[in-house]
Amino acid sequence: MTKAEIQQVKLRFGIIGNNESLMRAIDIAIQVAPTDLSVLITGESGVGKESFPQIIHQYSRRKHGQYIAVNCGAIPEGTIDSELFGHEKGAFTGAIGERKGYFGEANGGTIFLDEVGELPLPTQARLLRVLESGEFIKVGSSKVEKTDVRIVAATNVNLRQAIAEGRFREDLYYRLNTVPIQIPPLRERGEDVVLLFRKFASDFAEKYHMPAIQLTDDAKQMLLSYTWPGNVRQLKNITEQISIIETNRDITAAILKNYLPEQEQHLPALSGKREKSFESEREILYQVLFDMRQDVTELKKLVHSIMAEREASAGVNSKSAYYTPSPTVVPPSLEANVPTIIRQPAKPSPAEDDDIQDTEEYVEESLSLDDVEKEMIRKALEKHHGKRKNAAQDLNISERTLYRKIKEYGLD
Ligand SMILES: Nc1ncnc2c1ncn2[C@@H]1O[C@H](COP(=O)(O)OP(=O)(O)OP(=O)(O)O)[C@@H](O)[C@H]1O
Ligand SMILES: [Mg+2]
Repeated sequence: MTKAEIQQVKLRFGIIGNNESLMRAIDIAIQVAPTDLSVLITGESGVGKESFPQIIHQYSRRKHGQYIAVNCGAIPEGTIDSELFGHEKGAFTGAIGERKGYFGEANGGTIFLDEVGELPLPTQARLLRVLESGEFIKVGSSKVEKTDVRIVAATNVNLRQAIAEGRFREDLYYRLNTVPIQIPPLRERGEDVVLLFRKFASDFAEKYHMPAIQLTDDAKQMLLSYTWPGNVRQLKNITEQISIIETNRDITAAILKNYLPEQEQHLPALSGKREKSFESEREILYQVLFDMRQDVTELKKLVHSIMAEREASAGVNSKSAYYTPSPTVVPPSLEANVPTIIRQPAKPSPAEDDDIQDTEEYVEESLSLDDVEKEMIRKALEKHHGKRKNAAQDLNISERTLYRKIKEYGLD
């Protein structure tokens, strides 16, 4: 692939940037497109994974066949097998008619399995079979059917970790990952962030009929040194916000700063949450806490975990260890609140155990988290006019989790 050819693909699919890793990812996508090999696209949330399966489909011999994108995280566990593989009439309560399923429909085409790490284990087994032999069986049927489908999968979670935790089949991982394509995070793309900003600024200028915002040199520097946990999606969102809110079209670092959330290294207790690596039950809870960083409660938890950590590393259970203030992170005014959230372990036990146990109990007892969570979900849904995909993205949880929470809280 020559540079010019890659440029053409970028133009066609609206991809901005000249970063070498990004160019290489596009190059691999085009090279692999004419084959039927499975491709696994990995990269943090918001890096732009969604264009890649489309490139692969369009540059393959399947381009006149169906392209079906499935968000594996958004389909409830109870219906996912039937959506993917179809079902027979009467296969389960409510299965009035027969259903073909995506694997049947996409015969001769491509299926994009987005958030593939969210597939339930029984579905993973069915998927492995169809990948290995092209065979599948509809729910409630005993007849083996054949299909010719190319699979492109994507994930923003670490599948190796999912394998280690028994949530993802290793054999399926290797089968999906025949050709890996890694999309680099925005923070590693250098000057691309400025190009992207310019593109988004001009798009929003057109959309809202106003002159495009421009960055001063110090603001550009700030864009370049920011860590972009939400990657291109985050950049796009803040560019839109600034375009709408700021009347002065020249954006200085001082203005820009207001739109960039504090960088995360100051919050050791919650670091790692961007990897969505925690259990789905807890993820929304931590997310809510994280987003209410200003809230005293949040700081209390932070203080607590730091204290617990200290205790763990020092191996001390004495009260005095808890009370040691952490001057680098905790504003002095909050130290007064610390004792209210700290309870002594009933009996001395190994330090790590105390750590876990204490944190869990604390979370359950001292906050009315259900209310907070419910309210956050309600607001996110309202903001996105009920669009679950967007609301889930805002809350940084999977659509499946959101779906379940909506049911749980009766927010339908
Ligand atoms: N290089 C790029 N040029 C232009 N727009 C981009 C680029 N990369 C991403 N975007 C835009 O950023 C947004 C997020 O991209 P996308 O939805 O593909 O992210 P993702 O990697 O699928 O994230 P997630 O894992 O959260 O689903 C989209 O609006 C997309 O159009
Ligand atoms: Mg995506």
